[in-house]
Amino acid sequence: MAQPRQWWKEAVIYQIYPKSFQDSNGDGVGDLAGIRARLDMLSTLGVDALWLTPFFASPDVDNGYDISDYRAVGPQYGTLADLEDLLEAAHRLGMKILLDLVINHTSDQHEWFVESRKSKDNPYRNFYIWRDGKSGREPNNWGAHFSPSAWTFDALTGQYYLHTFSPQQPDLNWENPAMRRALYDMIRWWLEKGVDGFRLDAISFIAKTPGLPDNPGQGRYIFDRRYMMNGPRLHEYLREMNQQALRGYNVVTVGECTGLTLQDAIDLSNPERQELNMPFLFEPLKAYNTYGKCPERLKEILTRWQTGLHGRGWSALTFNNHDNPRVVSLFGDDAQYRVESARALATLLLTLEGTPVLYQGEEIGMTNAVYERIEDYDDVQALNAYRQSVAEGGDPQAALEHVRRTSRDRARSPYQWSAAPNAGFTTGKPWLGVNPNYTQINLEQDMAAPGSIFQHYRRLIALRKRTPALVYGQYIPRPAPEDVLIYQRVWEGVTIEVAVNLSAQTVPYKGQGELLLSSPEQLGRGVLGPYEARIYRRGG
Ligand code: GLC
Repeated sequence: MAQPRQWWKEAVIYQIYPKSFQDSNGDGVGDLAGIRARLDMLSTLGVDALWLTPFFASPDVDNGYDISDYRAVGPQYGTLADLEDLLEAAHRLGMKILLDLVINHTSDQHEWFVESRKSKDNPYRNFYIWRDGKSGREPNNWGAHFSPSAWTFDALTGQYYLHTFSPQQPDLNWENPAMRRALYDMIRWWLEKGVDGFRLDAISFIAKTPGLPDNPGQGRYIFDRRYMMNGPRLHEYLREMNQQALRGYNVVTVGECTGLTLQDAIDLSNPERQELNMPFLFEPLKAYNTYGKCPERLKEILTRWQTGLHGRGWSALTFNNHDNPRVVSLFGDDAQYRVESARALATLLLTLEGTPVLYQGEEIGMTNAVYERIEDYDDVQALNAYRQSVAEGGDPQAALEHVRRTSRDRARSPYQWSAAPNAGFTTGKPWLGVNPNYTQINLEQDMAAPGSIFQHYRRLIALRKRTPALVYGQYIPRPAPEDVLIYQRVWEGVTIEVAVNLSAQTVPYKGQGELLLSSPEQLGRGVLGPYEARIYRRGG
C-alpha cells in the first residue's frame, strides 16, 4: 500500500524535559525561558518538533505528571506569556511544539478533585472513580505503579478512589461524558493558543476492565496492568476526542500506549478510524529491561515491527525517554566506545520506519547518572519503593542499590551544556545532581569535535529529510553477523542499505553503492569496526 505523505511522518521530534533542560533564573530548575534561549541549538540539530513534558501548575509529586491546573504554567517554569513567546520563537524557526496531555489522571490538588472528594453528591464526584470498600478492604486487589494499592480511602465520604499511579494522582472517570467534555474544552483552549499537537500520557489507562473485577492472582495487591488498561472503550474514547477536540486543527497526536500489539498499533494509527496519528513502540525501548544487552533480540523486535507495520500503520520510535535509562549505557558501551556506540544507535533510530523521537542529551551521548545517597534521588517511583522496602525490614544499602539500578532519575540529570560549573545548566543549585562526567561530555565540546555524536545526528537528520526512502521505504532485513543489523529501505527505485554493528568486534561487511554516511575512523571497505555504522545508496 502506498504511504500517504504527512509532515509528521517526515518529522524528527525532540523530547525536552523542561525541569532539566536549561535554567534561566538561577533557581536550579529548568524553565520555558531557558528552552527559548536554546532554540538555536535545536534548529542547528535540525529537529522539526519539540515535545515538552509537563510544565503546568503541579504540586510536583511526579515531576509535573500530577497537574493541578491544566491552563496554568507552574511558577518554577515561568508564565503563560513565556510559553507564548516560546511558541512564537519556535514557529519562527520552523519548529512545532507538542504538549504533554496528561488526561488519565490529575493531581489530587486539582479543583475537580478538591470538589469531588467533598461529598457523594458533588457535581464533580463522578469526574473520578469512587467505590465502597469490600469487607473493610479496598474495592479490589489492584496494585498501582507507585504505591502498593491502586485505591486510597477518603474518610470524609467513607469511599475509596482509584489511582493507576500514586495516591496523589487520582484517575479521571472517562465513563462520565461531562468529564470528557471538560477535557475537550481544555484541549481546544491549547489548540487556540497555537500548539501543534500532543503526546498523550498513559493513554492506554483511560479505559479500564469493565466492572473493575478482582485480579484472580494471589496476594493482597497485584500489580498487573492488563486489568487497568486497554479496556473495550479505548478506541471509542480516542475517536470521540479526535472528533470533538482535535478536528479542524492540523495537529499530531502521539500516544503513550502500553501493552501494544501489532494489531493495536495498526488500529490506533489507521487514518480512517481517526484515533491517533501514532503510538510509541515500547518493545524496543524496553528490550534491555526484558532481555539484557542482547542486540540479537533488539534486531528481532525491530524487524518484527518494521515488517508488520509497513503500509498498514505508523509508529513513533524512540530509544530513550525520561522514564527509561539512556540507551548508550545499555545497548552501547558508555565507557570505551561511547562515541562510536552513540553514533551507531543514532544511525539505527534515524534510518528505520516510524517518526524518530530523540530525548534531550542523546545527541551528545549523555550517560546514565548514578547518585551516592538516597537523599540525592527524586523519582517518586524509586523513593516510594525504597521507603516501602526499608519499612518492611529490608536492608537500606540493598534498597539504595536497587534505586541506583532502576530509578528514572538516571535519565533526568540536567543537560550538559559546557564544562562550566553545573554544566552550564544553572547558576544556582540544580534540583537534581549534574552527572560529574560533564567536564568531558558536554555540548560545547561535542559540537566542536570532528566526527562527534552531535555532528552525526545532524547529518543523519539532514539525510533523512532529503531521502524519502528512509521515511517511506520498505524495510528488508539482510543476512548479518551476530549483533549486527543490515537492512535495506526500498522506495521508488532507490535502495538505501544500512549496516550497524552493535558489538565491539570487527566484522566482515562489504557495502555497495554510493557511501552516504559513515563514521570518520572507518577501517576499510571489507569490514565494520566496533560499533561502526554505514549507509549506502543505490539507484535513483
Ligand atoms: C507516564 C509518564 C511518567 C509518569 C506517568 C504518570 O508514564 O511518562 O513519567 O510518571 O505517566 O503520569
